[in-house]
Formats: sequence, C-alpha cells, structure tokens
Amino acid sequence: MKKEAADRPEEIDSVWTGANLATMTANGRPYGLIENGALAVSGRSLAWVGPAEELPPDFLQRADRVHRLDSGWITPGLVDCHTHLVYGGNRAKEFEQRLQGVSYTDILASGGGILSTVRATRKASEDDLVRTGRQRLESLLAEGLTTVEIKSGYGLDLETELKMLKAADRIARSLPVTVCPTFLGAHALPPEYKDQSDAYIDFVCCEVLPEAARKGLARAADVFCESIAFSPEQSRRVFQKATELGLRVKIHAEQLSNQEGAALASEFGALSADHLEHLTDRGVEAMARAGMVAVLLPGAFYCLGETRLPPIDKLRARKVPLAVSTDSNPGTSPVQSLLLMLNMACTLFRLTPEEALAGVTREGARALGLQDKIGTLEPGKDADFVLFDIDEPAELASALGHNPCRKVVRKGCVVR
Ligand code: NIG
Ligand code: FE
Repeated sequence: MKKEAADRPEEIDSVWTGANLATMTANGRPYGLIENGALAVSGRSLAWVGPAEELPPDFLQRADRVHRLDSGWITPGLVDCHTHLVYGGNRAKEFEQRLQGVSYTDILASGGGILSTVRATRKASEDDLVRTGRQRLESLLAEGLTTVEIKSGYGLDLETELKMLKAADRIARSLPVTVCPTFLGAHALPPEYKDQSDAYIDFVCCEVLPEAARKGLARAADVFCESIAFSPEQSRRVFQKATELGLRVKIHAEQLSNQEGAALASEFGALSADHLEHLTDRGVEAMARAGMVAVLLPGAFYCLGETRLPPIDKLRARKVPLAVSTDSNPGTSPVQSLLLMLNMACTLFRLTPEEALAGVTREGARALGLQDKIGTLEPGKDADFVLFDIDEPAELASALGHNPCRKVVRKGCVVR
C-alpha cells in the first residue's frame, strides 16, 4: 500500500489542471503524453501526476492554490547539461576571422580562442563574472530552464578556476535554477606552461582539482581530450584524481578528431561524453556498456561549420541516451537559447522532436546524474515544470526564435 501513501500526501500546495502533459516517461505514448492532465504539488515535489478526470477530488479541496489552465502543454523543467556560461570578454572578432578563412585550431595556436577568454576571465572580478553569467542565463531561464551545468576552464590557474566556480555558486544562490558545477581545469594549456603539458596536468591534479573538491565547488570533472588540448593519457590522470576525490567524470570527446576519449571515460563510469562527431564504433560500444549519455551539441557543430555528424543511428541502435545542450561558450557556441538547440538537433542531427525534447529533459538530467530527481513529470520528483503556449509539443523544435514559455515552476514555486 506504499502507492496509496504516496498518492495521498499530507499537504497539497497546488494543483494544476487543464493542460496536456508531456511527462517524458515511458508510458507507451509519444512524449509520455497525458491529455488534459493534472499535477499536484506537495512542498518541493510532485505528489500526483495523471489525467485530470482521475485526480482524487479531495486534492482540489485541500490545495492552497488551484491553477485552472485552458490550454497549452506542461513539460518537465528544461535541463542544459553542458555550458561554459561563466567567462570574461567576448570573441566576436574571432567570428569575423573564421569567416575570413582562419580555422578554430589556428586561432587557438596563435594564442586566441580559449586562451583569449582565459586572459579576459583572469582580469574579470568575481562580481563581473556573476553579473555577466546571470545575464546570459537569463535568456535560458526565460525559456523554462530549471537546471544548468556550468563549467570552469577559462582560468587555468588556481585563483581563477576557483573564482569561476565561486561565481557559478553565487549565480545558483541568486536565481531560481539548480546549478551543477563542473571543474574543467584541463581545457587548454595556459601560456605559463607552454610546452609543459604534463607539468600542467600535475598542477591540475595536485593543486587545483583537490582544492575545488575540498571547497565543495565542483560535482564533476571534465577534460577537453583532443589533439589541440590534452591526450588520453593526461585525461586519464585527471579522471583518476577526480574519482579519488569522489567526483563524477565527463569528457569533451571526439569533437575534432578521434582520441577514443569516450571509451577512456567509460572506464571511470563517466556520466557522459560530449560532442562526438568523430566517435567510432568502439566508442559507441563502450558508452553503451557503461550506461553513458551522449551529449549532442549542435550549436558548436553549426558555428564551426562542421560537416561530419555524430553517429546518431549507431548510438540509437545501442540505446545510448541522447542529451542535447547549448555548450554555451564565447567561441564555438555563443548560444543562449536551448529551444534553438532543439531545432538544430532536429534539422542538423535528424533527431525527432520527441528525442530533442527528451534530450533537454530526461536525458539532460541523466547526463548530470540527476535522473532520480528531475527530468520527467512523475510523483516523487522535484516539482520543476514549464507551461508552454503550444498546440503540439513538436512546436518546441519546429519554430526558431520563438519563445512560447508561459510559466515556470521550480521546486514547487512559480518563478516566472
Ligand atoms: O565545448 N571544446 C572545447 N571547449 C568548448 C569551446 C570553448 C571555447 O572555444 O571557448 C566547446 O566547444
Ligand atoms: Fe564545451
């Protein structure tokens, strides 16, 4: 009779009726559809989810607030599981350079790219980083975002890496959003370690990462494993240290070349491998076996003018969950719209609109290890949900530059 107890919580704070629900659960219908659904919220959690006609009548009487909607769709709160939202400066000039034919790799090699953002981020105060990070996040929140991952990685020294993570923490405390902070000290080689990448990895593993972990400023560690960044062997050392410190790992893998980074990360029970344009069959297999999420980043693919697609069909065939994210960063993906990524995931990567929405809800949550708490509309999960002014859920992916978000509820509170 456990179900009874869960179905009859003591307090009902609010009830929402009159919209269709895209629960994103496996209820046998597309989008986990419940037509004319109802949600009951108790405290910070969902207490009941189902068809309005089956809502226990006393819930309506007991609720402090009943929201009677006349149309629209409710989805889980949106999750952006891969961002670099905290940084100084901007790189619009490099956009111009790339249009004149200079490659991303050449820009980085000549001290620009990630390194130009490192210079600007080192100069920025923590307050500046909080202010500009909040501004960027604002447009994502306006679309119904309730959870976001934010990486460090533009400091590459102890002080600035911690400054970035502290800024992310302050953003989390000042806006209605759950922030999952990730340490990305192994993002690029800073100028003071020129030609000494192993020594830099020593520094990351012995000084920066332990300090970030000790201060509770990171939940996971990420590495840019790439020919222009860090080798698989160096990535392995970061993952070993992160695992020792009790952090989860994830990886920027196979974006510009195949390094078998995804397979490497799978040895450490990684949450996800992200980008994956050059992922091999071996990588797909390793990810499937380890239960990793493939995080697709169509914004970076688009902005870099890539032509080689991630092996979506193979990932699907091996049932690797597909998440979709903005990769919001100043260089390769200056993107501040997760809904636009739904469109690009469909148009560029041929995901279905249902897969794309799952990618920013259920699978985005899984990529952050939060699948038991968020990502679907189910009793017991956090009451994070969004009301969209749409007739069909596919509209979320089909329209460009349109924001149909009407209301956002996070942990039971209406925040927008
Ligand atoms: O995810 N690939 C490495 N990191 C970022 C790019 C960061 C930058 O160019 O500033 C990415 O695409
Ligand atoms: Fe990234």
